[in-house]
Amino acid sequence: MCKKYLPIGVFDSGVGGITVLKACADILPHENFLYYGDTKNSPYGNLADQKITQLTFNAVDRLISKGVKAVVIACNTATAAAINALRSKHDIEIIGIEPAIKPACLMTNGKVLVLLTKAAARQPKFKSLIKQCGLQKVIIYPLCDLARKIEQNIGRFENLKEYIHKILSPYKDCGIKAVVLGCTHYIFVKDIIAKIFPQAVLYDGNAGVARYLKNTLIKNGLLNDQNQKGKIEFFSSDVKYQSIYQNLWSKYTNIF
Ligand code: DGL
Repeated sequence: MCKKYLPIGVFDSGVGGITVLKACADILPHENFLYYGDTKNSPYGNLADQKITQLTFNAVDRLISKGVKAVVIACNTATAAAINALRSKHDIEIIGIEPAIKPACLMTNGKVLVLLTKAAARQPKFKSLIKQCGLQKVIIYPLCDLARKIEQNIGRFENLKEYIHKILSPYKDCGIKAVVLGCTHYIFVKDIIAKIFPQAVLYDGNAGVARYLKNTLIKNGLLNDQNQKGKIEFFSSDVKYQSIYQNLWSKYTNIF
């Protein structure tokens, strides 16, 4: 088969990357996508760097063995820990995601609160991003448990309202003008977060990743030029999650 008709692989530790998949499918409606969530090993945010790198390598190998033409690492944690090593190992285009701190800082006069996992926050790649943005403006808040709770409450995210209010309450009256959702899982609870910071604009990296993916495909002559709507398939390291991802996709594709 001609390479441009192959699917694009999208990977996350669990369900968070489905929000990135949505942004990509929206601007690339003729592409086929293969989503892989490593829910069996999720969340990654409290694991050691070496383990995150190893799991990410395994996931990308699985996608490549299924014949994808490019891979999107739809996970800030896996991107920060492993993207450089992945790119040196594979010839295929590998696109990562990073917290949207640059646009948030550019567009905001007040404080910028960055929510992300513990593992993402300690990566040199993240620290260098922060240095470029001006430390006095940015508050970094690594969260230990939110991604896990989101995985446990798939389809019932409103159950997390009280928990999210509790963990974010220390920043409620700090003049936060922008909140960066630096973990793709958090996008599922963005409405809850928005209500806690009514004066703030919320940022995520999804649209940027989707645009970058499109440009990369065009640049490499890999854009699927067929006219019919692309197919989206889901698979997981935990087989029972395949239908759970599929249901979540059908239910939530309208609200991101
Ligand atoms: N969705 C992921 C991210 O963007 C990781 C969540 C986790 O596995 O801890 O960082």
